[in-house]
Amino acid sequence: MDKFVIRGGNPLVGTVRVSGAKNAALPCMAAALLTDETVTLENIPDVRDIQTERKLLVAMGAEVELGYGRAHHRTVINCAKLEKPEATYDLVKTMRASTLVLGPLVARTGHARVSLPGGCAIGARPIDLHIKGLEKLGATITTEHGYVEARADRLKGGHIVFEKITVTGTEDLLMAAVLADGETVMENCAREPEVADLAALLSKMGAKIEGAGTSTIKVHGVAKLRGARHRIIPDRIEAGTFVIAAAMTGGDLIVSGCDPKHLGALTAKLQECGVKFTENGDSVRVMGDGPLRCADVSTEEYPGFPTDMQAQFMALATQVDGTSVVTENIFENRFMHAQEMVRMGANIRIEGRRAIVRGKTPLSAAAVLASDLRASASLVLAALVADGETIIDRVYHIDRGYERIEEKLKGVGAQMRRIGEMLPRKAPLAQQA
Ligand code: UD1
Repeated sequence: MDKFVIRGGNPLVGTVRVSGAKNAALPCMAAALLTDETVTLENIPDVRDIQTERKLLVAMGAEVELGYGRAHHRTVINCAKLEKPEATYDLVKTMRASTLVLGPLVARTGHARVSLPGGCAIGARPIDLHIKGLEKLGATITTEHGYVEARADRLKGGHIVFEKITVTGTEDLLMAAVLADGETVMENCAREPEVADLAALLSKMGAKIEGAGTSTIKVHGVAKLRGARHRIIPDRIEAGTFVIAAAMTGGDLIVSGCDPKHLGALTAKLQECGVKFTENGDSVRVMGDGPLRCADVSTEEYPGFPTDMQAQFMALATQVDGTSVVTENIFENRFMHAQEMVRMGANIRIEGRRAIVRGKTPLSAAAVLASDLRASASLVLAALVADGETIIDRVYHIDRGYERIEEKLKGVGAQMRRIGEMLPRKAPLAQQA
């Protein structure tokens, strides 16, 4: 298991480039299941979750080519043959977004068998809303032996009102509705840019969609979809992580290749904290030279403050003047990074869904454990300002969603390296026998 060793104290200076959005790439790869023609996706990030999705599609019979050399970030998917419309437990347990194949599989093949995801580090994360929505579209659902099975000769358009806003739920049902017979109206949909990006790909494939990116989406089902070529949007969470890294380290950083419009809630909050920004087309310059002050933050669905930036904001809050209250409204157990930051000297008190963070606490390096993807990112941020060498264990979590983060941060001045697992010393032959 790899670890990161980070020596804090360096301001981040220079330009760092953002990769494609993992959370847009995953549904777009699943959308390739909807056609027997080839779908080519560009700006695919080179992260572990993409490899997991590739395995998932290949196990069903799809041909998936991940580019190399100059075409490194391109993937070409052909799902002409789908022998086994199934997502098995071993893949779903490593990546919950595997459930995104449920809707497209049943829409295209009339049958899908997908493992229930079960719990994960940040909470229960059920898929009941995906299931209820598919039932509204006429699928028959059974749940047995930890698997959901959906069947339908052809899905029929229907009226879906989400009880709760769900990102992958909206995407999953959107992919089901595009091949359903007749019109589907979905209300209380997620408005995340990743939903709109998926809809952009589906439209290129011939789907008829109105309102993606708003809370009401209308779909006129079509009988067949064709192949398409599509470029994935930049990763707003990776961009936001670099923005906070620059602010925390007192750096001067250009975060390039991002879409500043998607960072609105974060930049507004950071401006409240005293961080200075300039925007220029597809880049944001962050100047973290002035004094920073506290701000309260509450996570919300897009366009609110993203839950995927909550841990990173908490790292920043440990370094500003005053006390910040961080409220997590989306997931029930998403403060695991707080305990690790406390081990580094932070002053954080958890009260249910709220974390009270007293600022301006000097952090000192320690051995810490990454518990989930965004928690790992927040520990990297804390380590960048800590005194001494922090060792972060279980960085496979960060590799799920950040492309070569150590190389990108090193490129702008961080002292950081990855170390592999130490192999146990080989015992002498006599002892081995
Ligand atoms: C997506 C993102 C994840 C982000 C999250 C919230 C992807 C691949 N992942 O996850 O990075 O943190 O949105 O912005 O895009 N819920 C139900 N029933 C359901 C579905 C969800 O109760 O059927 C609940 C969840 O437990 C959670 C809330 O709804 O409390 C939001 O979850 P959801 O938007 O579905 O998160 P994901 O799509 O899994």
